[in-house]
Amino acid sequence: MTFETLIFEKRNNYAIVTLNRPDKLNALNKQLFDDLAEIVNHVENANDIYALILTGSGEKAFAAGADIKELNACDSATGKVFSKYGSDLMARLENLSIPVIAAVNGFALGGGCELAMSCHIRFASDNAKFGQPEVNLGIIPGYGGTQRLTRIIGKSMAMELIISGNIINAEEALRLGLVNHVYPQAELLSKTEEFVNAILSKAPLAIKAAVAAINKAEDLTLENGLELESQLFGETCGTDDFKEGTNAFLEKRKAVFNAK
Ligand code: COA
Repeated sequence: MTFETLIFEKRNNYAIVTLNRPDKLNALNKQLFDDLAEIVNHVENANDIYALILTGSGEKAFAAGADIKELNACDSATGKVFSKYGSDLMARLENLSIPVIAAVNGFALGGGCELAMSCHIRFASDNAKFGQPEVNLGIIPGYGGTQRLTRIIGKSMAMELIISGNIINAEEALRLGLVNHVYPQAELLSKTEEFVNAILSKAPLAIKAAVAAINKAEDLTLENGLELESQLFGETCGTDDFKEGTNAFLEKRKAVFNAK
């Protein structure tokens, strides 16, 4: 699969998507969203992709936000459409049933930070910078920043970052829980792939069920969330992988899963 603004690379059983507008610090334009939507369509229907990594090309940026040139043309009616277009796509990414991991290799500002937050896990390079600087442009975050940043780092810090437009470095992002790990830039992708390979040695259907359950945790009451968990737990007990995993333990051997 080839795209104007993205590089799609399929490895054995996972894929890497690289945002590829380095001369514009991988700013998110309409074409990039269209390309990403095509990849999400593909991944939703693929039965041989069990994890997705998102990263940026170049050493400077993951993504420096929505494309300000395109944004500049918005008025109040088209601005809402502009926001929903990116926001809906990021929600689809978040709702993929496979783990989606952002390898944030530089600036993740505005829409770039929001795209990283729509991934399930974020790893960052030591030069990464995060922020929601939209107030400098006379707008607020439009791709989920007010909602996801608040859920990830809490109301008070999200409020501070969004109303100040302050940019934070990778260490601060780690301290706030916005990223899971920080690595030297040269190691970021290999460390991310190492993590993905470790996940993919586990039972794939169990991982999908865990992603689905955790994704719903914030939307459900505890009672309904526990009900969903029991439902999905039961479903995993009906898989071949469950029999294999438990038999392998009892037979003191390594399990070989086949996603069935
Ligand atoms: N949209 C469109 N183009 C962008 C962009 C964006 N969000 N961010 C960077 N670019 C472009 C610049 O216009 C420049 O293009 P040019 O060479 O054709 O002029 C190129 O990317 C390099 O950016 P530049 O600003 O020269 O790099 P820098 O190292 O001096 O500064 C940033 C880096 C990230 C601090 C700066 O680019 C910036 O503030 N970007 C906007 C961040 C933002 O407000 N994002 C939220 C958008 S909603």
